[in-house]
Amino acid sequence: MFTDEEARRFISQGTGDPQTDPVLAWELLYRIEPELYDRLATAERLHPGVLEWLPRGVDRIVEVGAGTGRLTLELVDRGREVIAIEPALPLRRILQRKLADARHASHTAVIGGFFDELPVPDDDADLVVACSAFTPAAGHGGDAGLSELERVCRPGGCVAIIWPNSLDWLIARGYRYESFDGPMSVQFDSHKEAVRLAEIFYPGAAEEIRNRGLRTVPFEIVGLNPPRDVAFKMLPP
Ligand SMILES: C[S@@+](CC[C@H](N)C(=O)[O-])C[C@H]1O[C@@H](n2cnc3c(N)ncnc32)[C@H](O)[C@@H]1O
Repeated sequence: MFTDEEARRFISQGTGDPQTDPVLAWELLYRIEPELYDRLATAERLHPGVLEWLPRGVDRIVEVGAGTGRLTLELVDRGREVIAIEPALPLRRILQRKLADARHASHTAVIGGFFDELPVPDDDADLVVACSAFTPAAGHGGDAGLSELERVCRPGGCVAIIWPNSLDWLIARGYRYESFDGPMSVQFDSHKEAVRLAEIFYPGAAEEIRNRGLRTVPFEIVGLNPPRDVAFKMLPP
């Protein structure tokens, strides 16, 4: 299931049992059921304020942990060149398919790689960004990964971690924080899809979603911190 490089990062850190190791369970999901994961990520949309906040008209953007492109597709109009780095081959394939269908995306490259070993030269990008992917754990970023994000960012550029899971850790490393207000919901295509995905990903909320006939499900009901925030560092010029 995993390449040697993936196994070294994703298996050696935890219990090795997806029943008790949620990080490993997500990594398996990306590889065994990538379309199912994509249905969830498509419904969990980013706050429009986060997208507005991101710079436009830059030369080059590097995104790490691009997944199936929830953020990547929003980046294609913002950079002259966009490089999307994603370790999981099945997710890369879905992202490549979406980019092939998208307009104006021919300047976007999808490549394999990891936070702690980015296949990009020093000072390469004006914006280096990760969305719901970077964590302080060594296998998913950590100090080595943060150094790599900053290495490939040009002087005067911006490193942005969208939907960070460990804000204090980033603030202790010189990152600032922006959060955007307002109600947020997971937006499924249908009530049936909401129930089906809730049974898998938010089992504690499935009954309420079913009983209330919901298709649009407030994040409070699913018990998830909404994707409304960004931690960032502007590198000195
Ligand atoms: C929750 S998904 C988010 C994907 C996408 N950024 C989005 O917002 O939809 C986490 C992503 O991080 C990627 N990832 C996990 N470990 C990684 C690592 N060490 N280096 C780079 N990406 C990693 C996963 O393969 C997955 O695509």
